[in-house]
Amino acid sequence: MKGLLWKLAIFSCSISAVHSTEVNRDEIVVKGPGLMPDKIVMPARYFFIYFRGEKYSGNETISSDDVKVVVSGKTKSDLPCRVWPNLLNRKDSSFIVRYKVVGDPCYDFIINIAYKSAVIPGSPFFTKGPVYPDECICPEENIDHWLADNSCNTNDKQIKADLSRFHKVDIDAFYDQAIKRFNNSYSASVCHYVVKSNEVFRNCYGQHVGFKMFMDSILLSIARKVVMPDFELFVNLGDWPLMKLSQSNLFPMFSWCGSKETADIVMPTYEVTESSLQCMGRVSLDMLSVQGNVDKTWDKKEEKLFWRGRDSNEERLKLIDIARSRPDLFNASLTNFFFFKDKEEEYGPKSKHVSFFDFFNFKYQFNIDGTVASYRLPYLLAGDALVLKQQSDYYEHYYHRLTPWVHYVPVKRDLSDLIEKVEWAKANDEMAKTIAKNGANFARNNLLPQHIFCYHVSLFLEWSKLLTRPVVVRDGMEHVLEGRGKKCECDRIVRDEL
Ligand SMILES: *[C@@H]1O[C@H](CO)[C@@H](O)[C@H](O)[C@H]1NC(C)=O
Ligand SMILES: *[C@@H]1O[C@H](CO)[C@@H](O)[C@H](O)[C@H]1NC(C)=O
Ligand SMILES: *[C@@H]1O[C@H](CO)[C@@H](O)[C@H](O)[C@H]1NC(C)=O
Repeated sequence: MKGLLWKLAIFSCSISAVHSTEVNRDEIVVKGPGLMPDKIVMPARYFFIYFRGEKYSGNETISSDDVKVVVSGKTKSDLPCRVWPNLLNRKDSSFIVRYKVVGDPCYDFIINIAYKSAVIPGSPFFTKGPVYPDECICPEENIDHWLADNSCNTNDKQIKADLSRFHKVDIDAFYDQAIKRFNNSYSASVCHYVVKSNEVFRNCYGQHVGFKMFMDSILLSIARKVVMPDFELFVNLGDWPLMKLSQSNLFPMFSWCGSKETADIVMPTYEVTESSLQCMGRVSLDMLSVQGNVDKTWDKKEEKLFWRGRDSNEERLKLIDIARSRPDLFNASLTNFFFFKDKEEEYGPKSKHVSFFDFFNFKYQFNIDGTVASYRLPYLLAGDALVLKQQSDYYEHYYHRLTPWVHYVPVKRDLSDLIEKVEWAKANDEMAKTIAKNGANFARNNLLPQHIFCYHVSLFLEWSKLLTRPVVVRDGMEHVLEGRGKKCECDRIVRDEL
């Protein structure tokens, strides 16, 4: 406690009592998983500061220069913790604060927030600890506690629908058939995973199994955070779902994309999962950064539909034709020719790379299928623009919670009403802006790293309950070892009775 007081004294010496006129301090709301760093471990923890209340929907912004966040703590051996903070201005009077804890577990953890040099109500936020870096292998032993701490929705409709096809699952009943089908397959790549005593094992089959790294990393990341029940599953590493409803011998297959014609069990895509795991790490585009790199607010954006992408679907060529016919409404071009190389002359030249953040200098964004669902939809929703979405038989794990005309504007699959829909948006700017905001709120409430972890854990937990046989590590399975994880001194947090 002495250490804490000392740090506060230092902090308050450096600030003077200036009071803000534009912001009513009573309206400031600070919330998010990053305020419970002892209970919620993430690669980058995050929370939100709403300077004009959570519901504010005006277009006034707060200058980043007026907001100061200091995160500190000390290790067991009384050294300062290594914490990297990062402030993202959403330009709607709210901010995302993210921070990465590295090195040793941290104690007497303090988050100090000041606006215009005066601490805001509630600050400093104090956590006794331990606060584990994401690398620490210190899993919570009670999965129900973990789900509750993370406010996970344990009643997801997609999970229920996907698993409802399978009542009692005896893996041995289809194991040989599955191996036979995928061993030496040219068209599909599949891995069989076993999670046993919170350790990960796998065998992969097929020609291109590189994407196993995505599955490895989410399983290992979860295993560092919470003790999972034993389970085993087959994971499809390819784009297309595999279990066609028209075929008779269906067995449970986990895929990143679902479709109306297949029975695959969907998981969050490797794209949004990996960006959750690499938040403030290897990737620059993730569900938080996309909100904090808004250059132009709604009124300043160009009133055109902006699109860039590769030629992975014939309808994408059609989009180029439509865009060329109405340059007043569209700025769309292809960035790569692979599937329709012979059409490069007609539909080229390929345009040079545009940063994804710059997409949002335009009011209207388009989500059009590639080989399957386009995995960019989470980012398009999170950015502050209106999403037009092509209707499609493919879906991702959260599509069932999206409502057309609430979160996005639907466009026919053959794009025949695309021009009409852009014209509608232009003529109905207030409604377009509202739908854009709803989409962004959806992403904030459903697609952030915490939600991605929750979905995986809930899905694996429900799945494990269906398995009828004790899970065993099979002959020849590779033990997937921690690349990032490390042994830390794991102290139990003192928990109030739930
Ligand atoms: C806020 O919105 C109003 C009306 O939509 C607009 O006139 C004004 O320029 C906007 N202000 C900013 C700072 O964008
Ligand atoms: C898969 O095919 C390879 C090569 O044909 C064979 O050696 C191997 O035993 C097969 N594996 C299984 C599990 O059937
Ligand atoms: C389309 O957008 C890009 C990126 O902002 C810009 O460089 C280009 O000039 C635009 N094209 C047209 C025709 O406006």
